[in-house]
Amino acid sequence: MAKVLRWTGYVLGLVLLLIVAAPGYVWFASNNALNARVEPHAEKLIPMQRASVEEGNHLLLTRACAECHGSDLHGAKFLDDAKIATLYAPNLTLVAKQATDQQLAQAIRQGVGYRGEPLLVMPSESYQDLTDAEVSSLIKAIRAAPAGGRETPARRVGPLGRIGLVAGKFKTAPVVVQDYANARAADLGPQFAAGRHIAVTVCSGCHGSTLSGKEAEPGTMAPDLTITGSYDLAAFTKLMRTGLPPSGKELKMMTGVSRKAFTHFTDHEIASLHGYLVERTRRAP
Ligand code: HEC
Ligand code: HEC
Repeated sequence: MAKVLRWTGYVLGLVLLLIVAAPGYVWFASNNALNARVEPHAEKLIPMQRASVEEGNHLLLTRACAECHGSDLHGAKFLDDAKIATLYAPNLTLVAKQATDQQLAQAIRQGVGYRGEPLLVMPSESYQDLTDAEVSSLIKAIRAAPAGGRETPARRVGPLGRIGLVAGKFKTAPVVVQDYANARAADLGPQFAAGRHIAVTVCSGCHGSTLSGKEAEPGTMAPDLTITGSYDLAAFTKLMRTGLPPSGKELKMMTGVSRKAFTHFTDHEIASLHGYLVERTRRAP
């Protein structure tokens, strides 16, 4: 009897320890991920007098920056859920007053905020492939945008968000940047390079590093872009400009992002993107 009691005591003690220790562990481990000071590497930029505000503004629209950060770049809510996270895409006109060109480039291409923190949600995994000239133009355009608005609320990660981080379900931007660097979309040669560049620097964010599909947000799959093989240029242009597939039915995510961002592509950009995606489908094993 005494033996049984002693064992029950051990088991109860262990359960208690787990109840107390598990949240402590999640808190500690998630803080490690959120507060990890990432040492960004130096960015190569072109001289700012050669960077183009016009190109930068075109990139702010087509790379969907304006969709998250607001059309005036004054910041916008991304998610506000106490259990998961409170996360705003910050006011870039105010960030630009604090940050150097180097720091802005590091935030865009490496996912490291100017205060040195690893960013969340910011799709640097796709933007790491922007050219030096493109990043410089983006920075020039951000600095040229009229400053105003308020500072957005600070980032807070709730218990479910922390569990997700510790379980590896959510990753910080620098980690995703590395994942993407390790698996690239097929390079089909110089003839298709311009189209590939667009696919890699924006479509990959939702369709995956190799464009083979991924869960774009919990419960919503972005398909393998071989699906573009069934689109002729007219149908593809309609999808980019109106967000509507041949069926004419609105799509859950694709319709919104097309109308806000992809509608700003030039005809030439749409044609080269289509050319690359069709060729990628043709050569798919
Ligand atoms: C899917 C939404 C989304 C898109 C698209 C996006 N951002 Fe962000 N961005 C964010 C969020 C959210 C943060 C803040 C992350 C955090 O606090 O952890 C952020 C942070 C930043 C920062 C860092 C600010 C700081 O405090 O250092 C810069 C700079 C930035 N974004 C620029 C851009 C540019 C330029 C583009 C387009 C090329 C872009 N973003 C596209 C969501 C987005
Ligand atoms: C914000 C996430 C996101 C981005 C960025 C994105 N897609 Fe999509 N896309 C989706 C999702 C999710 C679907 C599946 C349909 C849906 O739920 O919207 C989809 C579907 C598609 C389809 C299939 C439509 C159909 O059902 O016939 C095509 C083609 C496509 N995307 C092309 C692109 C191209 C090209 C780009 C880059 C210019 C791109 N997508 C960027 C999320 C995205």
